[in-house]
Amino acid sequence: MKILIVGYGRMGREVERILAERGHEVAGRIDPRAPESDSPDLDSFPGTADAVIEFATADAVVGNAQFYTRHGVPAVVGTTGWEADREQVQKIVTDGHGSYLWGANFSVGANLFFAMVHEAGRIMNAFDSYDAMLCETHHRGKADSPSGTALEAAKRLLAVLERKQSIVHDLPGRPLQDDELHIASLRGGSVPGTHTVSFDSPFDSISVTHTARTRSGFALGSVLAAEWLPGNRGFLSVDDFFTAMQTGA
Ligand SMILES: NC(=O)c1ccc[n+]([C@@H]2O[C@H](COP(=O)([O-])OP(=O)(O)OC[C@H]3O[C@@H](n4cnc5c(N)ncnc54)[C@H](O)[C@@H]3O)[C@@H](O)[C@H]2O)c1
Repeated sequence: MKILIVGYGRMGREVERILAERGHEVAGRIDPRAPESDSPDLDSFPGTADAVIEFATADAVVGNAQFYTRHGVPAVVGTTGWEADREQVQKIVTDGHGSYLWGANFSVGANLFFAMVHEAGRIMNAFDSYDAMLCETHHRGKADSPSGTALEAAKRLLAVLERKQSIVHDLPGRPLQDDELHIASLRGGSVPGTHTVSFDSPFDSISVTHTARTRSGFALGSVLAAEWLPGNRGFLSVDDFFTAMQTGA
């Protein structure tokens, strides 16, 4: 396949490496700041592509979604931090009959982690002496916090754990309410991403942790998604892709 890389930062470069390993061709690299990019923006890129893989910045997501939909290019979007624009992007894609697959975390392991968090939350409904909390650590260059992965894990937990109703990030400067789920973010060094969901009682503590070792896992997942996406229309999430992988659809 001929794949256009949008965002040529840490992830874009890793995607390029995996594309080469899997025998794909790079249609081009779009980035307003990276000196090695082929074009600073999508509008001035002259080429064509079978699909796009985007790991850019949140402020680029709406404009890029308009471009992909207008040109009928299937897009895999790993960019995070655009929760506030989610409905607008969904409307752009569905009105334009686009093919758009987005996800806060494309690694297979992280998606297994989400499934385990969901199941743990379901079990914990019957054991209310356990409080739940979430902690995430990332490299110092990460722009958004909490991470998209932390928000996704929290969302999975809120969906099943009835005693938690809302998310609190950072330090609220007051004691937590019983129905608040706290997410703590730590930034520093080169950590590619560590997420821990803990259930804590007066007697013991149980934790589920996903530790990314390198960025390759995210990049590989996004390339696999780009191989799967053409022919699947709509505003799809990484969940749809992993479900299809499990069922062979
Ligand atoms: N979904 C996942 O699995 C996953 C995994 C890792 C990182 N991420 C997310 O991917 C994004 C990129 O991460 P990174 O570590 O590569 O960041 P990075 O800062 O190294 O790279 C981002 C690049 O995007 C470029 N950019 C900004 N606006 C752009 C635009 N309009 N068009 C094209 N490029 C543009 C920047 O110049 C920069 O080079 C972040 O949002 C991060 O949270 C997602």
